[in-house]
Amino acid sequence: MQRVAVEDLTIRPFHLLDKEWALLVAGKERPNPMTVSWGGFGTLWNRPVATVYVRPTRFTFGLLAEEPHFTLNFVPDMLRPALELCGRVSGRDSDKWSAAGIVPEPSSTVPVPRVAGARLALECRVLASVDLDPGRFLDPAILPLYPRGDFHRAFLGEVLAVWAAE
Ligand SMILES: Cc1cc2nc3c(=O)[nH]c(=O)nc-3n(C[C@H](O)[C@H](O)[C@H](O)COP(=O)(O)O)c2cc1C
Repeated sequence: MQRVAVEDLTIRPFHLLDKEWALLVAGKERPNPMTVSWGGFGTLWNRPVATVYVRPTRFTFGLLAEEPHFTLNFVPDMLRPALELCGRVSGRDSDKWSAAGIVPEPSSTVPVPRVAGARLALECRVLASVDLDPGRFLDPAILPLYPRGDFHRAFLGEVLAVWAAE
């Protein structure tokens, strides 16, 4: 892995999240990988920001509340089964690292690990979190996505370091 300046990052953000998915790792004492495909990249408060959206029903939600750092890891195709497992099983009930055959490795700037072997990994510090307000949904197709009323919380993470496979 080599460290890349955030402004030199070349990605296809929509394909990357919607089609390839990512492993969001949160938690310091017992870090936990969770699959995400909703999120975004951009600039806010003059900083590079990666945003992830986490429902309060996820184990990851409490981990982010306790420790406001995360890593966002994009893994090779051969780890697709790991992405599927980490998007189906909760870390509340099991150790997803061993179940998915993935290994944590220390990050350089945050107390939460990255996923070893990731093609691309972002280390982020949560600057703010914002609860999505259903009262502000304008498209009627959105509300049915929440039959349990577990509206996402957006975690806005300042990108402190980017690591890419050589
Ligand atoms: C492709 C895919 C994308 C997902 N994206 C998200 C997401 O962006 N936000 C979210 O809260 N859950 C998302 N999920 C669901 C969680 O990954 C899933 O509920 C997981 O088991 C939660 O893990 P945890 O309880 O260990 O945090 C996604 C699942 C899959 C399969």
